[in-house]
Amino acid sequence: MDQAEGLRSSRTAGPRTEPAIQAIAVASGKGGVGKTNVVANLALALQRRGKRVIVVDADLGLANLDTLLGLHPHATLRHVLRGECAIREALVGGPGGIQIVPAASGFEELTQLTQAQRLVILDQVDSLDGAFDVLLIDTGAGISSNVLFFATAAQETLVVLTPEPTALTDAYALIKILATRYAEHNFTVLVNMARSEWEGRKAFMQLTRVTERFLQVSLRYAGSVPYDPEVPEAVRRQQPVLDLAPASPASRAFEQLAERVLGTPAAPRPKGGLQFFFRRLLAEARA
Ligand SMILES: Nc1ncnc2c1ncn2[C@@H]1O[C@H](COP(=O)(O)OP(=O)(O)OP(=O)(O)O)[C@@H](O)[C@H]1O
Ligand SMILES: [Mg+2]
Repeated sequence: MDQAEGLRSSRTAGPRTEPAIQAIAVASGKGGVGKTNVVANLALALQRRGKRVIVVDADLGLANLDTLLGLHPHATLRHVLRGECAIREALVGGPGGIQIVPAASGFEELTQLTQAQRLVILDQVDSLDGAFDVLLIDTGAGISSNVLFFATAAQETLVVLTPEPTALTDAYALIKILATRYAEHNFTVLVNMARSEWEGRKAFMQLTRVTERFLQVSLRYAGSVPYDPEVPEAVRRQQPVLDLAPASPASRAFEQLAERVLGTPAAPRPKGGLQFFFRRLLAEARA
């Protein structure tokens, strides 16, 4: 039975059980720090560990997850938002059997989702409960309303930065706005393109120093991924580095990240995959 089929039967089989999808939004302040590569490789590593993984490309104006993986989507989230298909019909199979909801590129109207469009996304993602164990959301860079929406809708936000000072200040800006305007207090932090483990930890400590001083947040360190020339090579070949060079330092780090994601208990999920606030919003909209 393929996953889309599993989805159909889970939606029709008797009373709904409490959903248990683990939703993680991958975000960054600064662009180009490696979010899409992290999402693709983490998804593959989790899938290989027996998890059923779905990835939503939420970089809605400038999608590129499908390009990164060499996929040819037949539909995108834009079709879903326009009511032309259901999210399960837009799914495209990726490496290892991960399922991807591609985004469309070059549509300005998607760079700022309306409230109605957000509800469509929540409703559609909600309809996937039972068919997947992990939902990874690849967001765009920065602090746009779309990014903030996805980060607050998921139970967990994985903030990616590099050891560069600008990536650090932008990560801080993202965390600050999520904490002060959206009452998000728990973040997981990954340092990508680190030249050593020490450099990764140092960047995390620098970030913690400022957040501890100015914000009421708790940061959990997810480790670092080393700078590795195999990653750009994998991008050129449109393959996850985990497939192209499984023994490379970056691949080993992605495997460790997957272990950490599985090993650490997910943030509390009052009502399943989507946070309570959004569930309530959804219920109200349905009513
Ligand atoms: N660990 C790494 N080592 C070397 N290069 C890397 C590493 N991670 C990412 N890169 C390179 O950095 C570039 C940007 O990566 P990616 O597209 O994943 O970033 P992004 O954060 O998703 O960007 P955007 O903000 O534009 O969505 C890519 O060309 C990729 O090859
Ligand atoms: Mg990206």
